Amino acid sequence: MISGDLFADTPPGQSWALAPGAWCLPARARDHAEELLAAVAWVVARAPFRHMRTPGGRVMGVGLTNCGALGWVSDEGGYRYTERDPLSGHPWPTMPQGFRELAAACAAEGGYPGFAPDACLINCYEPGVGLSPHQDRDEQDFAAPIVSVSLGLPAVFLFGGLRRRDVFRRLTLAHGDVVVWGGPTRLAYHGVQPLRDGAHAMVGRKRINLTFRQAG
Ligand code: SIN
Ligand code: FE2
Repeated sequence: MISGDLFADTPPGQSWALAPGAWCLPARARDHAEELLAAVAWVVARAPFRHMRTPGGRVMGVGLTNCGALGWVSDEGGYRYTERDPLSGHPWPTMPQGFRELAAACAAEGGYPGFAPDACLINCYEPGVGLSPHQDRDEQDFAAPIVSVSLGLPAVFLFGGLRRRDVFRRLTLAHGDVVVWGGPTRLAYHGVQPLRDGAHAMVGRKRINLTFRQAG
C-alpha cells in the first residue's frame, strides 16, 4: 500500500511506474481540462449520463455514457460494447479528436505506441459513489492498454493484481491525472473508493473519468 499523498506530491511531468506496464502520468491532462470538459458536455448533450443495471439487477451508482464507434453498456443481459446508444437508438457521439490525441499521446508515454481508441467510457461520480473492483475484459483483445483520465474531485483509485484477492495499491487521482495500464497488467483488478464530498472549481461536486479502450 502506498499513500495517495505520495502521488499528489509528484511534480507534473514525472511519470512513475505503478506496476509492470502500468504508469501514472500526474497532471498530464491538466492543461487540456477545459477542452476536455467542453467535449464531455457536447457528448452528454447527445448521450446523457445514465445509471445502468448490472447483470445481477443492481443499479450502478456511477453515471455512464460513451463516445466513439463503440460504447460500453451493462444490463440484465450482461456487459458488452454496442455501436448505438440503447437510450436513443443512435450511434454513440463521435469521439472528439482532442480525446483521441490525448489518449494516444499518454499511451505512447506509457510505452504503448499506436494506440487508436475506438471507445471512450465516461463515468460521473457524485459524493459517496464508487466503483467496485473489476477487470476491464469486455474488449476483443487485450493487446492495447487502457488509458484513464481523471477530472474534477479527487478519488482514491485502487489498483490490484490479476487475481481479485491480490493486494491493492491505493492512490489519489486528482484533476488532470492520467493512468495507463497494459501488457502484464492489462487485466489488473481496479476500482474507485466512494468519492469524498467537495467542490472542484471547474467541475463542481463530482468527478469525471474518461477511460479509453481499443474495444473492437
Ligand atoms: C473504470 O474502471 O471504468 C473507471 C476507473 C476510474 O473511474 O478511475
Ligand atoms: Fe475499469
